[in-house]
Amino acid sequence: MSGPLRLGVNIDHVATVRNARGGDHPDPVRAAEIVASVGGDGITAHLREDRRHIRDADLQRIQAATDLPLNLELAATEEMLEIALRHRPHAACIVPEKREERTTEGGLDADGLHNQLQPIVTRLADAGIRVSLFIEAEERQLEAALRLGAPVVEFHTGEYAHAFLDGDADKLARELKRIADMAALAAKNGIEPHAGHGLTYENVQPIAAIPQIAELNIGHYLVGEAIFVGLEAAVRRMRELMDAAR
Ligand code: PXP
Repeated sequence: MSGPLRLGVNIDHVATVRNARGGDHPDPVRAAEIVASVGGDGITAHLREDRRHIRDADLQRIQAATDLPLNLELAATEEMLEIALRHRPHAACIVPEKREERTTEGGLDADGLHNQLQPIVTRLADAGIRVSLFIEAEERQLEAALRLGAPVVEFHTGEYAHAFLDGDADKLARELKRIADMAALAAKNGIEPHAGHGLTYENVQPIAAIPQIAELNIGHYLVGEAIFVGLEAAVRRMRELMDAAR
């Protein structure tokens, strides 16, 4: 039996386009309002250390503009912890962050970084923020999430998306099985599994069909599609595909 599947729309790249000209258009707040109006279930935004897309001032404006839960993606640093505690988003997803990377490449090493993560996870949880860890679908990382007491994990679907792009059917099947197996194990242990990264109209359905997965966070592809069909239509289409897969 599958439960409902939420769609969190990552609006970072609306801000990327805005920042390309340094003004205030297109405004990610307007994107958040459109997502709310077409039945998106949440807004996801990654405040990166270099502020290359979402900026500090956007967070408060996004929170004020819609009632949708905000899932704030952040690196495990003292600066980001303080920002999260100040803004109190519904959820905080801890992601690995390298300054030189183009996007979040690979999952968080929750196992190796346990001691660094524990106080951050605890302080976020104590503030009533739902903590999620963006990890690879691996047993070692899931066990670390359990030890850390994270209520949510988000599985990095980047390798799955790459296999899809490369037309590598064996790797695709392996990646899908790994995510499905770990989603089942997470749910069995009381952790809510989410997934995201690199999801598109073409590759979303096998992931959406994994019954334990409760939320997908999708950004780059939707913002790209929005250039051609508008954000409203892009979110609607993604929603339809996700629902059809359940
Ligand atoms: N989930 C997390 C934790 C992410 O870091 C990202 C990318 O910022 C996404 C989902 C969305 O990935 P994409 O933009 O490729 O859809």
